[in-house]
Amino acid sequence: MPGSFFTGTTFLLTGGLFIMANESVHNQAPAKRSGFATALGALIATLGSAIGLGNIWKFPYLTGENGGAAFLVLYLLATFLVGLPVMISEILLGRAGRANVITTMRKLSPSPRQPWWLIGAAGALSAFLIMAFYTEVAGWVFAYVVRSLTSNILSTDPQVTLQTFNALVSDPFQSLLWQWVVLILVGGIITFGVAKGIEATTKRLIPLLFILLLIVDVRALTLPGAGAGLAFLFKPDFSKISTTAALIALGLAFFKLSIGMGAMITYGSYWKDDQNIPSTTLRVVLSDLAVSLLAGIAIFPVVFTYGFEPAAGTKLLFITLPAVFAQMPLGNVFIFLFFLLTSFAATGAMVSLVEVLVAFANEQFHLSRKAATWITVGLLALVGSTAALSNSTLAGFTPFGKTLFDLYDFVTSNVLLPVGGLFIAIFVGWVLKPEQVIAQLTNGGTLSNHGVVRVFLFVVRYISPLLVLVVLLDSLGVF
Ligand code: PFF
Repeated sequence: MPGSFFTGTTFLLTGGLFIMANESVHNQAPAKRSGFATALGALIATLGSAIGLGNIWKFPYLTGENGGAAFLVLYLLATFLVGLPVMISEILLGRAGRANVITTMRKLSPSPRQPWWLIGAAGALSAFLIMAFYTEVAGWVFAYVVRSLTSNILSTDPQVTLQTFNALVSDPFQSLLWQWVVLILVGGIITFGVAKGIEATTKRLIPLLFILLLIVDVRALTLPGAGAGLAFLFKPDFSKISTTAALIALGLAFFKLSIGMGAMITYGSYWKDDQNIPSTTLRVVLSDLAVSLLAGIAIFPVVFTYGFEPAAGTKLLFITLPAVFAQMPLGNVFIFLFFLLTSFAATGAMVSLVEVLVAFANEQFHLSRKAATWITVGLLALVGSTAALSNSTLAGFTPFGKTLFDLYDFVTSNVLLPVGGLFIAIFVGWVLKPEQVIAQLTNGGTLSNHGVVRVFLFVVRYISPLLVLVVLLDSLGVF
């Protein structure tokens, strides 16, 4: 029954992190761990962390800013040559270690002196900085949910939709208010132990989000600018390719798949022994890609029909969507549903991010879960405020030429996640014994994944680390 596996998997994700965190603190015999009930359960739960604002908000605006289809090509290369192998690596490490990030890396490291557990610590830093700006964007989504109920936000006039958005983000009070609402909600979900319920709901709503995106796409494709929008998204102009764009594409792949910070190690620790890791991971990656493309197909026809700026940046989703729904029957209902479903997807992703932090604080600083959650939320309110105010009070404060919102985003996607992914690939390709990798990818020899294993080992040893290294060094101006 779908209900039972949804509930099962969500329990495993949220309750499981808790069990694991306590396990190493008290150094007791490992708690009995059960796996996802079904292969589909593992797929859906892992998707619950992957699908979020990365797909609906970040993918379209970065594609718009970096030249459309050419960027999409870079993004596809980053996803399949780096993202997929790193995700398989994290999942296989998780299933081999059957514990949280830090314990897993300690367990699997050839010597206790090698500090591989630092991947977990760096992951906690990434989770914190991602939350600092993610909560602000989630706040905008929440504000739009309420606004679509209380006023008419639909318009095809770029000036009008821009004004609606600016009125929200340039008001320091509203920016902070919505971010804090989001933080308190996420903190509450975690401390009151209803995370399982929320995650279960989120996962049930992901198929609905998918259907709604399809409806919106049909609407977008009937607009006069649909041809131009699709050409922008799918007809590459290779003169737009640059290493800067490559780094951004790489960072987006990591961000969207929730990898490079060890979060997927925790998910992998709950995958069943007979689950086919490469094929399930491939399905996660393809579904995640599909949601992003659907979001892109919803947005770009509107951009070219009504004269929006494709490179509008972080506001792109918020200024274009009111135009998609403007001349559509029941447009007001659809825009409300769209932002509501997006808020659920974002909440699912945020719960998994905060879980990383709470598990880390619980394990490293021996804090209770409740204390860990509210200290984390408090610190996030403090640091996150600097991101929330970066369109108003702190707009003029631009260290390294970036607002703090952009800086947190840049440091995580373009530095921390790729570096984390690099080390995970190196660990699986060069440090872990190949027999261990083979055992995980063939389920102890029961699957005939031999060709897949050979390709995987080659890519994870040579291609993924090299690509990440070249792109990172090049963006630092080394070449
Ligand atoms: N993958 C999520 C998204 O695309 O919105 C963001 C995210 C969630 C990143 C959880 C990292 C993570 F651990």
